Amino acid sequence: MHRRNFIRLVGGGAVASSLASLTACSDAFPAEAVVAWQGPGNEPDVRRWALGYAILAPNSHNRQPWLVDLREPNAITLYVDRTRMLPMTDPWFRQIVVSQGTFIESLVLALRERGLNTQVQLFPQGEFKPREVDERPVARVSWAGNAVLLPAPIVAPGSLAPALPRVPGKDALRDSLFEQLLHRHTAKVKYDTTRTVAPATLEALRSALTDPDVASGDVKFGGTVDAARLEPLRTLCWESARTELLMPRTVMESVRLTRVGPVEIAQHRDGISVNGWLPRIANSVGAFDRTAPPQDGSTAYKQMMDRFEGHSRTAMGFVWLSTPTARHAAQGTLRSAEVQAGRAYMRLQLKATELGLQMHPMSQAPQEFPEMKPWYDRLHTLLLGQPATQETVQMFCRIGYCAPQQHTPRRDLRGFLKA
Ligand SMILES: Cc1cc2nc3c(=O)[nH]c(=O)nc-3n(C[C@H](O)[C@H](O)[C@H](O)COP(=O)(O)O)c2cc1C
Repeated sequence: MHRRNFIRLVGGGAVASSLASLTACSDAFPAEAVVAWQGPGNEPDVRRWALGYAILAPNSHNRQPWLVDLREPNAITLYVDRTRMLPMTDPWFRQIVVSQGTFIESLVLALRERGLNTQVQLFPQGEFKPREVDERPVARVSWAGNAVLLPAPIVAPGSLAPALPRVPGKDALRDSLFEQLLHRHTAKVKYDTTRTVAPATLEALRSALTDPDVASGDVKFGGTVDAARLEPLRTLCWESARTELLMPRTVMESVRLTRVGPVEIAQHRDGISVNGWLPRIANSVGAFDRTAPPQDGSTAYKQMMDRFEGHSRTAMGFVWLSTPTARHAAQGTLRSAEVQAGRAYMRLQLKATELGLQMHPMSQAPQEFPEMKPWYDRLHTLLLGQPATQETVQMFCRIGYCAPQQHTPRRDLRGFLKA
């Protein structure tokens, strides 16, 4: 929208003065909100060092729904932070459990980088029920022996860690995907429609899932860059997004988690961070209403819809992860399958980063609230040719190319420590 029209829309002098102070501002997030992306530096405790990487994992709505218990030596026990769930769009808490898997995989990559041979025990006190999350731990990650020491000279806090020393017998544990942990991000912009994704790229992505720990979770990978398949999937993304955005209770879940401007972003360091000058001005004059869904015809409404439609229509390929439903249901391992899908997704996105490819989850159609059911069913038909009762889509993402985007905020590590 043109600046003059916007000023007319939200009204005169207050906007003009806000505009004067804000248009010169950068949309970069405040430094303290993104400091975690500089890595854990010379943190002497290997568990906190590895957690410095794990908290950078992708997770739904950037809720960062993780709590860790460090009371046991040589182990980290992970719990869901149940104050950070998304009951409207994720009523079975599936995405929150998938987001535990991304954390676990990052943690394991970091611990292996330090020469620690980790054992991951999922649900050590028993698995949650399929549509519930309770107070029991999701995973206990443990190891024997000592970590490879960080190299001297001591790294300045906040600086990127140098390469760790090579140690005979320990190098085999290292995984080159570790190197992407500080570079990865989810690019939520239009992708370049002049750059196609090569079919060979899908095979390169698939190769990231051969790690034995993840492969044993029977997560299946699928992908397409076939023009004939792209169009119906793009339309599905957009139609399913409309369903979420036009329903007050689901869109409000996102609206309430929107952090506008540097003060809110630095205060929360989570959720959906918006730092462009236009929403900041709207916010500063009270025109960015977070108590009601964006009104049809308003600037906020138009921007929201344009963003989702733009993302959907510029998908240059799709990838997905699925798990066998009936078998896991019979074994009582539906939740473990979700965690394993999260671990696989983490590896997939790191591999994409290595390849210079962007990967953006489009989680509307795989959501389980009743109004989404037509799109949910269609997604399963289009991707798998079978219903979710047979095989469940755990992650569905568009892929493509764009300029690098900035990292999203993360809370301070202390906020994740249960004990
Ligand atoms: C299970 C899961 C579901 C997600 N679904 C969506 C989605 O529907 N739309 C979206 O824009 N991002 C989605 N994301 C990406 C997160 O929003 C993103 O990881 C988070 O904001 C942190 O940003 P980062 O990945 O750049 O660190 C999802 C991530 C996960 C792990």
